[in-house]
Amino acid sequence: MRTAAIQIIKDEHSAISSVLYALRYLVRQMREAAMAPNFPLLRAILDYIVSYPNRWHHPKEDDYLFLAVKRRTKEANALIAALEKEHQVGYPLIENLKQLLLDFQNDRPGAREDFFNLVDRYTELEWQHMRREEDDLFPIAERVLTADDWKEIYAAFRENDNPLFGIKPKEEAERLYRRILTLAPAPIGYASMP
Ligand SMILES: [Fe+2]
Ligand SMILES: [Fe+2]
Repeated sequence: MRTAAIQIIKDEHSAISSVLYALRYLVRQMREAAMAPNFPLLRAILDYIVSYPNRWHHPKEDDYLFLAVKRRTKEANALIAALEKEHQVGYPLIENLKQLLLDFQNDRPGAREDFFNLVDRYTELEWQHMRREEDDLFPIAERVLTADDWKEIYAAFRENDNPLFGIKPKEEAERLYRRILTLAPAPIGYASMP
């Protein structure tokens, strides 16, 4: 169960990373290659981040993985506090990005550069955050958590897909993900995304 639980979280990180990669790629192309902005695609990417990582992935980590580790050891307390803070810092940044995208679309002076700069900041923050979880927290979790802890974490992450709850967030995420792929230009389309 431990391997399966870690695999789900790592798979979610891969999906989130590839969407962030697409976002940064688009910004680079607009900034350096004068590519015309694809507003529906940019909006779909921001919607994906709100509806999946922000609504499901990060909260499940807070409520299950982090909590379980805190129950078993104090050694990761400072690290977990920093990771929890990064979740909180990340949520409003997406709202800021959505607003800046609207401003950019409405030609507000400076909004285009503000959007690009915040995308750089946001993607760096999220990549570093996920790396820190995998490199620093997972090894501690693997060492201190029991089989029952892992069972609970696995169930919590699997529950994201449970139709008994009347919600299927992964289905919604999948739909948005496909929309991103459909709208994306070839270099970040089907060829390079998992
Ligand atoms: Fe996280
Ligand atoms: Fe994570």
